[in-house]
Amino acid sequence: MKVLLTGCNGLVGQKLAELFIQCNTFELIMTSRNEQSPFEDEKLMYRQLDITNKKMVRTVLDEIEPEVIINAAAIADVDACERDRASAWQTNAAGVENLAHSAKIVGASIVQISTDYIFDGKSGPYEEEDRANPINYYGKTKLAAENILRTSGISYTILRTSFLYGAGFETKSNFPLRVIEALDAGEQVKAPDDQFSNPTLANDVAYGALRILETKKSGIYNIAGPTWLNRYEFAQLIATEFGYDKKKIVPVKMSSHKLLAPRPLKSGFVTLKATVDLGLTTTSIEQGLMMLKSQIKEFRTSTEETKNKTK
Ligand SMILES: NC(=O)c1ccc[n+]([C@@H]2O[C@H](COP(=O)([O-])OP(=O)(O)OC[C@H]3O[C@@H](n4cnc5c(N)ncnc54)[C@H](OP(=O)(O)O)[C@@H]3O)[C@@H](O)[C@H]2O)c1
Repeated sequence: MKVLLTGCNGLVGQKLAELFIQCNTFELIMTSRNEQSPFEDEKLMYRQLDITNKKMVRTVLDEIEPEVIINAAAIADVDACERDRASAWQTNAAGVENLAHSAKIVGASIVQISTDYIFDGKSGPYEEEDRANPINYYGKTKLAAENILRTSGISYTILRTSFLYGAGFETKSNFPLRVIEALDAGEQVKAPDDQFSNPTLANDVAYGALRILETKKSGIYNIAGPTWLNRYEFAQLIATEFGYDKKKIVPVKMSSHKLLAPRPLKSGFVTLKATVDLGLTTTSIEQGLMMLKSQIKEFRTSTEETKNKTK
């Protein structure tokens, strides 16, 4: 099966690329906005693809003729979406429209990565059929993307996930990485005890996408870590796993963070459907943090190696 992956340089994109290359049953074509392939191995197929460029999307899809597109490209920075709504819309909604338009022509289906931020956070954790009501612009663009697929006439699967963590090659930071950095610098960490969701190891999203393709499932799937907790509790587990003093973690209310975009407070997911239909068991927090430790080591080393090569 020919699979085209967008946003292969992002956190989820990298984990998808890693897994699909490893499992060897798919013909994978990786794409990102960059002209050059981020991979040294010339056998790995790579094309430049900016999903906001309708013409480029059409050209690349016409050439590749994938059976499936996995869309891991997005502006996932919630406050950045609030600051630059035009770019957020162009990427997260219009970009998906471009993909759907060309997918229809070449007969491809789409696996779209979505989020629990399409909900208002009043009554999470959420099931697949719960009613969306986004409270920030990021959530609105991601819900728009889901609706674009629903009305596109193509076959699609929406893989919703929440509160991702992991380390990759030059990927942006996330909650555990920020907590570790602060604790390492001897600083206090103020973590909200009123913001709940399921921390999810990014590798589990990749594995979920693989199971979706293997089982040929369509529709909506919640794929998230097995534990629903608040940020304060999660930060305490991070401190313990990484050998720092738990007392450095201080509970605060989310409202004290004064963030640009409002966040849903009780979000996250019930993941029973994915367990039953896809046979998916996601990584526990303890195991996930252990994997994070080895990912940090691996990618710190590979980033340093690349820097030394370019000196
Ligand atoms: N992070 C979370 O906690 C979270 C939670 C729930 C759902 N999700 C969803 O998971 C998916 C992956 O997120 P992530 O955390 O992996 O984010 P990420 O690390 O920021 O990756 C997103 C990737 O999209 C690429 N991209 C942006 N605009 C593009 C464009 N116009 N054309 C092609 N590629 C473009 C970025 O490339 P550049 O490097 O070129 O900018 C980046 O590599 C997103 O759909 C997000 O909404 C994330």
